Amino acid sequence: MAICGNLLITVLIWLVLHLHTPMYFFLCNLSVQDIVHVSAILPKLISIVSTGNHNISFAGCFSQMFMFIFCLNTDFLLLTSMAYDRYVAICIPLQYSVIMNVQTCVLLVSACWVIGVLNAVMHSFLMSQLTFCYHKTINHFFCDLRAILKLSSDDTMHIKTIVFAEGVLFGVIPFILILTSYVCIISSICKIHSTAGRLKTFSSCSSHIVTVILFCGASLSQYMKPETEQSEEQDKLLSLLYIAVVPMLNPLVYSLRNKAVLQAMKIIIKIKVSNFLSGAFVRY
Ligand SMILES: *[C@@H]1O[C@H](CO)[C@@H](O)[C@H](O)[C@H]1NC(C)=O
Repeated sequence: MAICGNLLITVLIWLVLHLHTPMYFFLCNLSVQDIVHVSAILPKLISIVSTGNHNISFAGCFSQMFMFIFCLNTDFLLLTSMAYDRYVAICIPLQYSVIMNVQTCVLLVSACWVIGVLNAVMHSFLMSQLTFCYHKTINHFFCDLRAILKLSSDDTMHIKTIVFAEGVLFGVIPFILILTSYVCIISSICKIHSTAGRLKTFSSCSSHIVTVILFCGASLSQYMKPETEQSEEQDKLLSLLYIAVVPMLNPLVYSLRNKAVLQAMKIIIKIKVSNFLSGAFVRY
């Protein structure tokens, strides 16, 4: 479902010209990111569940960890850019086209991807310096950074410190920025006089906030809290939220409830059907 929903959004935004605005470019990036995110983790999990073969190679495990760190990081930053974009659009609309010009968008988006990759490279390098014994059992659904750290026989204090510092820098701070921009958005919505307009904007904002809180809350609560044995099972369940549930909800929450996207979908379907009926080959 996550792949279908996100693929649909990506193709739609790519095909329909009037969706070529900063907001939809961010959404498209988020969808691509979500596709990468679920495909890095869920296929292996599904194969483990369906075949009962619980083995994963060392290289496989490291690649999964690399992709996971990259995706989590980029997702946080993309969500922050999207919240900033909405903040500018709603709170300072007159300067929107000046602030959100092509350069800024490309810069923001590239920063998100580049920071994600660099971070994943750094962690993979640090982890590759550790010693691991031959056969180990990972008590998790996938090769999570913390789960692998536990397997090493070395002192991992320095990595844990880095993880914490990064959690603050790329997790807590973006989360606060996102919440702040939504607070500004809501307070400026409250100044709108028409009730219908207020309700409409409010309903789209509240669903964004819910998914952001689910995603950021679940992942931050895992990485920022001290480790205890009894929370391990809880952690595993909670991790499903950000590895599977939120990537599936994102297209629903951000795009499929959106009038412009629905309109675009109708147009595409109409063109397809009429092409099909008339048998004509038309490029659009
Ligand atoms: C991501 O965003 C950038 C900048 O807005 C845009 O140029 C690019 O096409 C987007 N990429 C995807 C895959 O949506």
